Amino acid sequence: MPGTSLSRRDFLKSTSAAAIGVSAATLAGCTRTDIAPARPAASSGAGRRFPDGFYWGTGTSSYQIEGAWNEDGKGESIWDRYAHTPGNIHNNDTGDVANDHYHRYKSDVAMMKADLGANAYRFSIAWPRIFPSGTGQPNAKGLDFYRRLVDELRAAGIEPFATLYHWDLPQALHEKYRGWQSKDTAKAFADYAGYVAGQLGDRVRHYFTINEFRSFVEGGYRGIDVQVGGGKTVHLGGAPGLRLADAELNQVRHHAVLGHGLAVQAIRAHGPAGTRVGFAENMLVAVPFIETPAHVKAAEAATRELNADFTTVMLEGRYTDAYLKRTGANAPKFTDDELKTIASPLDFVGINVYKPNLYVEPSADPAGYATIPINASHPKMKSSWHVFDPEALYWGPHHVQALWGAKSIFITENGCAASDVMSDGGRVYDSDRVMFLRAYLTQLQRATADGVPVKGYFHWSLMDNLEWIDGFGNRFGLIYADFQTQERTPKASAAWFRAAVERNAVV
Ligand code: NOJ
Repeated sequence: MPGTSLSRRDFLKSTSAAAIGVSAATLAGCTRTDIAPARPAASSGAGRRFPDGFYWGTGTSSYQIEGAWNEDGKGESIWDRYAHTPGNIHNNDTGDVANDHYHRYKSDVAMMKADLGANAYRFSIAWPRIFPSGTGQPNAKGLDFYRRLVDELRAAGIEPFATLYHWDLPQALHEKYRGWQSKDTAKAFADYAGYVAGQLGDRVRHYFTINEFRSFVEGGYRGIDVQVGGGKTVHLGGAPGLRLADAELNQVRHHAVLGHGLAVQAIRAHGPAGTRVGFAENMLVAVPFIETPAHVKAAEAATRELNADFTTVMLEGRYTDAYLKRTGANAPKFTDDELKTIASPLDFVGINVYKPNLYVEPSADPAGYATIPINASHPKMKSSWHVFDPEALYWGPHHVQALWGAKSIFITENGCAASDVMSDGGRVYDSDRVMFLRAYLTQLQRATADGVPVKGYFHWSLMDNLEWIDGFGNRFGLIYADFQTQERTPKASAAWFRAAVERNAVV
């Protein structure tokens, strides 16, 4: 201990019976166990268990891991085109090869079982593998890949959860319909979703229609500024890289939720009985600044309004009055029938939760809440946008139940990037990710203990992969990926995850 001169003997004296307030007389005749402090029960994890039957999995998406971008008849996607255009992606990285999962899916599935003990897996289907031009003739080889993947998962006792749209729109539809700017893309999406549900229905029971409406619409059709604290924002973009004006952007938002609703109906029409469907949205989460009933009410009001264009309209079948007022002449054009379709009944709600989006307190103004700015020194994770607060994973599902009465909720994504490096001994010590997992999952467990019906958790991500415009630099995996050799190595966080799955509890 620098600056102290405590010898070993002094130290032992200082912890003697007298020093800890127990007299020698009391000690006489006691056995060791009489005076040993009780071992705290929390170390067994028994107190922080998740409900029985909880799904533990990881998530990935086609463009981020598959590679094989033009193999077996796959069509070009807008992300292929975007990444092939120099300057769009950090380091000009592309998903051409990525994790080469298209060829290595068998060992990747084995790894999920052996290294993580997972009982579920969320992956996405690349639309242009199934319909290379978006519509028309299906490509049998593309579908075969997902059949083989799902069979492998099932054989390993891993439940497959398929996402139908994780942003890799067929480029042909971008050219033909201007992508989601047209209702025709929403219709084409439903046709593709129904076809997949019919073909894979014997193997896949759970579908998510669209992943992160907000990210692909805002990032791809306008560019989005995210608040990160101290009044600063970071700008995020993505394919197809447009910069639309308000009215057009609101119409794109509307077409995306319409595509979801039409897809739900198509999946129900073509999938076998027992097929279950929902969406996976990065719903913005307002966190009550102080946990009082008034603050919680304010946070619920804020969450409902912040998500008026996506989550709220999909779960309520109407745009809120405040949203229509706010957008005014630029509001989307829609019909009552479309609203009904958009709110087609779901089997579950999936939310991707990484961060608190807003801190709020009650306010007397009609909105019912006021925003508390995020401080400049607020802790963050590695990604520029990643404000740290585990409570988001308590309040996210809590609001979904409180506001919309959801009976079944999945955390479809949660995780963080970290500066992972391989040590000389061949290990990756991602202490920050382990801290993140323990802290966020403690809050998720708290939600389940409060009766919030969370049925499963998908960590983002299975392995390091192409983090969109950030390229391969931002590593999100529980498994480290060497993109030169395609070697995979479980990180320290993989061991943490496995222990949590084994105990079905926070460890
Ligand atoms: C959201 C997206 O769905 C996923 O593709 C992305 O890699 C993660 N969040 C991390 O940014």
